[in-house]
Amino acid sequence: MSPAPTAVVTGCTGYVGAELTKQLLAAGWTVRGTVRSDPATSGRVSAFKKSLPAEHLGSLSLHQADLLTAGAFDAVVKGATHVFHVASPFQVQRRLPCAQRLGHLPFPPGGPQV
Ligand SMILES: NC(=O)c1ccc[n+]([C@@H]2O[C@H](COP(=O)([O-])OP(=O)(O)OC[C@H]3O[C@@H](n4cnc5c(N)ncnc54)[C@H](OP(=O)(O)O)[C@@H]3O)[C@@H](O)[C@H]2O)c1
Repeated sequence: MSPAPTAVVTGCTGYVGAELTKQLLAAGWTVRGTVRSDPATSGRVSAFKKSLPAEHLGSLSLHQADLLTAGAFDAVVKGATHVFHVASPFQVQRRLPCAQRLGHLPFPPGGPQV
């Protein structure tokens, strides 16, 4: 029998990432979830973990990685069988050029890191 797949889910506490992570864990996968802030102190991470069945926590590891930091995802994707890249700034922008100046750029900077 082949081992359970190991997936990286970027933005695993986001709307899409959280649901995907839950479904992968429920299907028996091992998940390495990435978050932007320190998983040890993030309230969002804490709330997300509380929303998971206790028996799934052992199959989940959390890793800090920012899309705008070169090389931030190198270690976490190493050896994974699948990568689901769903982390992305996703907000209603009234003035995109302004958002770009503030650094809210989903692509191209974020994609190549993953
Ligand atoms: N929601 C929908 O109905 C829907 C439908 C179709 C497609 N999508 C697509 O799915 C993707 C995710 O959407 P979503 O609704 O899940 O958005 P979301 O709830 O805002 O989640 C975005 C995730 O990306 C992370 N993120 C943002 N900037 C980051 C950075 N610089 N480095 C690392 N992580 C970063 C966020 O982390 P933090 O918590 O640290 O901010 C969060 O976990 C988007 O590309 C969106 O277009 C969404």
